[in-house]
Amino acid sequence: MKGRSAILAFWISSLPWTLSYDIVREYSGQTFFDRWDFYGSWDNLTLGDVWWLDRDSAFQQGLAYTDDNGRVVIRVDNTSTVPFNEKRNTVRITSQDFYGVGSLWIIDLTHLPYGCSVWPAFWSKGPTWPDNGEIDIIEAVNLMNANQYALHTLPGCTQPQGVMQTGASGQGDCSQPSGCVVSETKPNSFNEGFAQAGGGVWATQFDVAGIFIWYWSRPDIPPSVLTATSTSSIDISQWGPPSASYPASSCNIPQFFSSQQLVIDITLCGNWAGIPPVYNPQCLNSGPTGLCYNDNVVGPGSPKYDEAYFEMNYLRAYTTGAPAPTPSASGVWIYPNGSSTAITYSPTPSTASSDFSGPSTSIDTSPNRASGVNYAHVGVFAASLVGLLSLGLVVL
Ligand SMILES: *[C@@H]1O[C@H](CO)[C@@H](O)[C@H](O)[C@H]1NC(C)=O
Ligand SMILES: *[C@@H]1O[C@H](CO)[C@@H](O)[C@H](O)[C@H]1NC(C)=O
Ligand SMILES: *[C@@H]1O[C@H](CO)[C@@H](O)[C@H](O)[C@H]1NC(C)=O
Repeated sequence: MKGRSAILAFWISSLPWTLSYDIVREYSGQTFFDRWDFYGSWDNLTLGDVWWLDRDSAFQQGLAYTDDNGRVVIRVDNTSTVPFNEKRNTVRITSQDFYGVGSLWIIDLTHLPYGCSVWPAFWSKGPTWPDNGEIDIIEAVNLMNANQYALHTLPGCTQPQGVMQTGASGQGDCSQPSGCVVSETKPNSFNEGFAQAGGGVWATQFDVAGIFIWYWSRPDIPPSVLTATSTSSIDISQWGPPSASYPASSCNIPQFFSSQQLVIDITLCGNWAGIPPVYNPQCLNSGPTGLCYNDNVVGPGSPKYDEAYFEMNYLRAYTTGAPAPTPSASGVWIYPNGSSTAITYSPTPSTASSDFSGPSTSIDTSPNRASGVNYAHVGVFAASLVGLLSLGLVVL
């Protein structure tokens, strides 16, 4: 193992100390909704008291649009009076693009939906649930002050104790109904504080080395994110510890996660926001009945749902599968059995496509699970390997 660590150290030091991702797509402005599907049904998934409109209805009713500042808005209807036994209109959209292992998503928002009964989420999913995995990036309900992260998987994927992260872990079995939960501990990640601080940014690294999620309130956004554009690559090596870390040491990412579609939705009440143990502590007194549906969804939409909207600057998707960040590099490939071989590579033209799917699971055999290695190093190492394999490497 000593020899292997030395080789790993050699590998890392032989690369520039950057971890650069190439942009695949930006969703923003007037073209934001072009590559998303609208659900067009009531919430038959989390049993919320909403109708998720189809595309035309959502635009006509002003619940999905790009505003005068170029920001994307997705909201709950706050203009209609809803009769008892009917649902309130809102939106759930799913990306037409699938993103494989080796992707990075960055979302910049200025407002999140909140209020009693309100349950917004930004998350990802595979075709079959939970077999293909789910990553919850933004999710909270009612008047919670902190955002919550989670993975949902089949049995066999867990979050180990003592991972390097700033968030607070809940139960660690990702196959349990709650998922393996991490609560944000930085201020202003949800509720009215989020927008008052100017909003913020979440970044999600979906990698063979693990799944890592960062959050920064507006004043804390790092320079690499502030200076990134809709066409530039981004270097994540200076981001520091994530809010939530799910290292591959206890969750084989390509085994539990297929390529993922992104989802943005808002529901009301349903089987998280609306159940008494969750609803009552914060919202019991928000109406005469103490019931989530009766006291919120029914009746006039304003002011109850005036704050129930997403407002977004952009959502960007990146990949390690496109050209390498440096013109050439060399290093050492370590086999799982510990033996090694020298390799070099040189870049090829961009392979980033509109429907990018990440590297195949053959990547999974790469020796990037060296235990006891700082997660960032593992991330750098794994991402380098992912980049290499996608480029066609030359084994000397
Ligand atoms: C939910 O409704 C949609 C549209 O009618 C349907 O395709 C889907 O199968 C339903 N899902 C469940 C879990 O009932
Ligand atoms: C709905 O909420 C928005 C703020 O999000 C507010 O500007 C608007 O006046 C509200 N609509 C009604 C009918 O009150
Ligand atoms: C380690 O694995 C590689 C690749 O399978 C193989 O070529 C090499 O001979 C193995 N080394 C030892 C010492 O088993």
